[in-house]
Amino acid sequence: MNNSIQKDTIIKLLSGMSSEKEIRKYLNRFSSDDFRFAVIKVGGAVIQNDLENLVSSLAFLHEVGLRPVIVHGGGPKLSEELTNRKINFSFVDGQRVTSKEVLDVAISIFKEENSKITSALKSMGIAAVPLVKDIFECNIKNKELGFVGEVIKTQSKNIKDIILNGGIPVIAPIGSTNDGQKVNINGDKATLALAKEILPDKVIFLSEIGGILDSSDNLISTINIKDDYENLMNKEWLHSGMKLKLQQIKILLDSIPSNSSVSITKPLNLNKELFTDAGFGTLVKAGHQIDKYKNIDNQSITTVTSILESAFKGKLIDNYFNKKEKDFYISSCNRASIVISYEQDIAYMDKFAVINTARGEGLGNAMWSRMIKDHKKVFWRSRSTNAINNFYKDVCDGFQKYDEWNIFWIGIKDLNELTDCIQYAIKQPATIIYED
Ligand code: ARG
Repeated sequence: MNNSIQKDTIIKLLSGMSSEKEIRKYLNRFSSDDFRFAVIKVGGAVIQNDLENLVSSLAFLHEVGLRPVIVHGGGPKLSEELTNRKINFSFVDGQRVTSKEVLDVAISIFKEENSKITSALKSMGIAAVPLVKDIFECNIKNKELGFVGEVIKTQSKNIKDIILNGGIPVIAPIGSTNDGQKVNINGDKATLALAKEILPDKVIFLSEIGGILDSSDNLISTINIKDDYENLMNKEWLHSGMKLKLQQIKILLDSIPSNSSVSITKPLNLNKELFTDAGFGTLVKAGHQIDKYKNIDNQSITTVTSILESAFKGKLIDNYFNKKEKDFYISSCNRASIVISYEQDIAYMDKFAVINTARGEGLGNAMWSRMIKDHKKVFWRSRSTNAINNFYKDVCDGFQKYDEWNIFWIGIKDLNELTDCIQYAIKQPATIIYED
């Protein structure tokens, strides 16, 4: 089938769960770099109990041309096998103590689990490539754990070649030390090491539970490390395994690009999680750092200009930055900005811009809350055709509609003050120029 027809068919299929526009947005985002789409960790229990959904979700990604890097675990199967063979085993801080005997069984189980995934994918016509050695260079850091490796280097070249040739690499958590000793690596740690090397847009953990649950066993939809981390780590109800995972995710988010994110979901919901704004699972983001500047330097001028021009799809007038009485809020990811001007006694929100690809992440809300903390009174205007007006109507204390503009305000009670503000807002010259 022609590839674009195929894509269209699939988008139609997916549209049952969301708007086509939303799906295309994510498809474009994830297709922008062949190699950096996603690292997906498949939990051991998923291979045992949910292989069918796993394979059909991955086949779907493959159909739309997305090539994830798969890393898998095998813990539950390994424990089962060790028990069968009456080999004792134990864990220290979530890591399996690995004697020579345990290591041998681990390697054979990892290979078996790996081949379950690869053969299932191959039977769907996907060029899955098993990688069970030569990917992770390791150190043995803690001798008490036995043959347990800490990753010091990943060979991402092999992985990249496989992906660029249209295949899907399926990687087992087995490493080797520089003197050739094979070692067992914790599956999550192997995933994080790979993600640090590949810097993917998404890191996805597929588990049976499909997310992080709150105290009443409801899925937590979004976790913002900056705002929620301390709070969650102090909760008694959060399972220690989840705490460990969250801790590692935090470390990971610190070392990958700020617009990358981690999702925890189950195979059945993977594509909903990926291709809709609302998702289906737990999305973990680094959170938004927002800085406020009174006087901005040339570099920030360039940043704000490109945010405004991209968000409003027009060109900013040349002398926009000449007037001094302005405050600039800029997100650390350089994808959103608010400009406040103080020509009037009351703060005037001159621009509120979030670039298109950053919408649906809560960035706009974060910018808004930051700005509103500094201003008890503020007013602004927006073109009557602007889709953001519904949001403005929700957050404002009042608004007035004119032909071209809607004027909104917060905290202004005095009628004279309000009239002045409205007059000012209506009279402002346009500062974004549209080509046609
Ligand atoms: N599809 C987007 C992503 O993969 C948003 C997912 C939102 N998910 C959630 N559980 N809140 O990044």
